[in-house]
Amino acid sequence: MRSLLVTGGAGFIGSNFVRYFLESHPDVRLVNFDKLTYAGNLDNLRDVQDHDRYTFVRGDICDRDAVQGTIKKYDIDAVVHFAAESHVDRSIHGAAVFVTTNVLGTQVLLDAAREQKVGKFLHVSTDEVYGSLGATGKFTESSPLHPNSPYAASKAGSDLLVLAAAHTFGFPAVITRCSNNYGPYQFPEKLIPLMIANATDDKPLPVYGEGANVRDWLFVRDHCTALDAVLERGRSGEVYNIGGDSECRNIDIVRLLLGILRKPESLITFVKDRPGHDLRYAIDASKIMSELGWAPAVTFEQGLQRTVEWYIKHEPWWRGIISGAYKQYYREMYEER
Ligand code: NAD
Ligand code: TYD
Repeated sequence: MRSLLVTGGAGFIGSNFVRYFLESHPDVRLVNFDKLTYAGNLDNLRDVQDHDRYTFVRGDICDRDAVQGTIKKYDIDAVVHFAAESHVDRSIHGAAVFVTTNVLGTQVLLDAAREQKVGKFLHVSTDEVYGSLGATGKFTESSPLHPNSPYAASKAGSDLLVLAAAHTFGFPAVITRCSNNYGPYQFPEKLIPLMIANATDDKPLPVYGEGANVRDWLFVRDHCTALDAVLERGRSGEVYNIGGDSECRNIDIVRLLLGILRKPESLITFVKDRPGHDLRYAIDASKIMSELGWAPAVTFEQGLQRTVEWYIKHEPWWRGIISGAYKQYYREMYEER
């Protein structure tokens, strides 16, 4: 039986991936290695916590001994690396932890995986490493790296370290760069779940600037199937862009959500813009589609409807989050805005 180490498996995408992979690969044992920062939540994995092919290990990817020990103990064949600090606004308030986890942590993991002769290393990255687009064009895998936020810069740094390991040592590493994800279990600091939670409570919906910024959205399960394809068939040393060809302006998303929730547009509040706010992201995913035969299964409209339904059904999940330290975060980010 193959053994897969998933870092950051208690976060949004990682937990969706763990669930998806246990269902779709009966021959694989999964070890979820996660520090449980504010964004890591074992409630995301309640339904699989007792699964006989699933193990949780609490640990920090910056802790060399813990990482090495885990890879050795579970005889890991492949790594899927999600663990990261992931929120742009938090990186603007304090970049240090982004450098520590995203850059140093990735190097610690790379070293340990190489020493233990892990057969495949999939580094989960983001389209934000390419910077911002104007009104036209799309990011391809050969677009220059031009990260603008501290978050994006730290992810670009980690991408370069992964490529350096592949180039220098022939280490079997591959990188994916995905557009904005949405779906179940996303922490309500990100646009879509934050707007759903606020609208449910008839609280103002804080749209940055004029809401004209564009993101290219992908339902999280489609990201998981793309990662599966890259893990199984992706070529080492390569980068694969992943995206759903679903560009949408922030203000249009907020209006769509209000429509689904039957809430008034008067809840929309335009607030001070994010500093250095990237205008537009758009992904050219033709490489993964033609080379690996991947395609998204869910349209943006379907995915948004399913996401709202999930948040309505799982209200205790997000209420548990917004009742704790999140309150302080929200005050600091939004009250004076
Ligand atoms: P998330 O913030 O929801 O989860 C991050 C997880 O990593 C948490 O469980 C956290 O506890 C864990 N973690 C953080 N620091 C750690 C450390 N030092 N050691 C071990 N675990 C640690 O993030 P997400 O949205 O699920 O994103 C996962 C990955 O996908 C990230 O690498 C992110 O850059 C990338 N990505 C995210 C998106 C998106 O739209 N969310 C898009 C493209 C790529
Ligand atoms: P976010 O979900 O933080 O993802 P990213 O910054 O990584 O793309 O934000 C998505 C878009 O929504 C981005 O253009 C910023 C905007 N936004 C708001 O307008 N208001 C908010 O409260 C948040 C969190 C984001």
